[in-house]
Amino acid sequence: MITADCLAYYKNWFRNYVEEYRHGDEEFVGNIDLKIVHTERVRLEIIPLGKSLGISDDDLRTAELAALLHDIGRFEQYKKYRTYSDIKSESHAAMGLEILESNSVLLGLDDETRSIIDTSVGWHSAVFLPEEKSPKEIFFLKMLRDADKIDILRVVTENYQRPEVRNPAIDLDLPDDPSVSDIVYEDLNAERLVRIENCRSVNDFKLLQIGWVYDINFPHTFGIIKERDYFRRVFDSLPDDPRIFSIRKKIMKRVEHESSGMN
Ligand SMILES: [Fe+2]
Repeated sequence: MITADCLAYYKNWFRNYVEEYRHGDEEFVGNIDLKIVHTERVRLEIIPLGKSLGISDDDLRTAELAALLHDIGRFEQYKKYRTYSDIKSESHAAMGLEILESNSVLLGLDDETRSIIDTSVGWHSAVFLPEEKSPKEIFFLKMLRDADKIDILRVVTENYQRPEVRNPAIDLDLPDDPSVSDIVYEDLNAERLVRIENCRSVNDFKLLQIGWVYDINFPHTFGIIKERDYFRRVFDSLPDDPRIFSIRKKIMKRVEHESSGMN
């Protein structure tokens, strides 16, 4: 259980923690700010999602705390490696857990809340959900993963629609060439999630984001994706390729269906 005061304490802790990273050149601070804004947006996205699921005010605050801390490893990752690519550096989720541990951040929480936060931070970016966690931990993890995806789709679509100011850090420093890898296409065509380690270009990474249609947990999230037209905007930024066209039809149909809550 988390009181309003407790959540306020963590918001303040977060603000102080990230402020330490806001020093350096414009590009550096810009990319740190990108994750600060992302964190705040994920926290804001998880509230209506939780409400759509009818969760209590206590649980809503726990969900907000999970959102607030989920990317806490990003700041040290960028400072140390100057990239947001886990492959080119190390897992930002694992770094986040380490930071929470070494700063004793979660010590004031009860055991159940602490495990919810630990599981959320540690597994928010994994390809698959963990098997050995409690239903409650999995539930919060699913909410966080949906809210995170909603805001990543905002960040990437804004980036794709403004090619003149494209930020390579958002695309994990992948080359922006016209290629689409066969393995990425084949996974998506077979309705499998695209693996980040198979992404060789920005186009592959875009298809990975499209593949999230198979990794969204709640109708509310599909509703937001439909309302903000995120997948169409990603598709519109991809090259004219008959393979992509056939996937597009299938994916857009799925969004339509799932957002109507009939899953
Ligand atoms: Fe995130």
